[in-house]
Amino acid sequence: MNSQLGDLRDLRDTAVLIAQETAALIRSSTTREVMATKSSSVDPVTVVDTMAEEHIATRLAELRPDDGLIGEEGNERASRSGVSWVVDPIDGTVNFLYGIPEYAVSIAAAVDGEVVAGAVVNAATGVVYSAAAGEGATRDGQPLRCTTVEDPSRALLATGFSYSASRRRAQAELLTRILPQVRDIRRMGAAALDLCRVAEGSVDAYYEHGINCWDYAAGLVIARESGAVARVPRLSTPGSLGEVTFVAAGPLAPALTSVLTEAGVFTSLGR
Ligand code: IPD
Repeated sequence: MNSQLGDLRDLRDTAVLIAQETAALIRSSTTREVMATKSSSVDPVTVVDTMAEEHIATRLAELRPDDGLIGEEGNERASRSGVSWVVDPIDGTVNFLYGIPEYAVSIAAAVDGEVVAGAVVNAATGVVYSAAAGEGATRDGQPLRCTTVEDPSRALLATGFSYSASRRRAQAELLTRILPQVRDIRRMGAAALDLCRVAEGSVDAYYEHGINCWDYAAGLVIARESGAVARVPRLSTPGSLGEVTFVAAGPLAPALTSVLTEAGVFTSLGR
């Protein structure tokens, strides 16, 4: 695979096409039935998660048969082309379950462990975020830019909590040190959309411990292409290690990094 911009745009367009198809499929589904739980009893897999990932895997196999795949619900294929797709069929499954319109299809393309293109489609509203490395990011075709706030005390942070009770306790303790130092905290419930919010400026930064590559891959390239600074685990690092994913608007990143370092955010939280 060469990394000509034309190729990266093709990867982005493929991600957008399949994410939009999948979002339409999710919108038209009439069931919210939970078929299993994963990392804990509050980590649901719905019938629609599985169906949506099957659709994505089938379409990628048709359109990009030599590419690899890693999907949240277990689809895996080795890459023969150098490109691998990192896929979350529904990020924000609990919101989907409750009918809160903040859940998304997230599809990213990675080369040599680096995300080079991606799309996140809010499946409830149809809003499309996408980016290719070096090409900028857009929301429904309009260019995105992060905010320009520099002072952490004026910054709105998004975060999220694990499905593991012990890690949640540690996350709550961290919050007691961070919350007094920032404008406020939001917990929306879909990491992929949190990263897109950093990109569009509806929050200034996002951090969370222990998310998996499929939660953040597409949002990462969208946020970076909008001017965000990111510190993320390797794509191959399992979420169970509790490493932090941190993304902040460029001007805010230096001072916020100091505040969060002091609070202990850049230490893994474990299980
Ligand atoms: C979850 C969401 C949530 C985050 C969790 C993730 P899922 O993904 O992104 O916002 O706090 O850590 O696991 O399970 O809905 O795909």
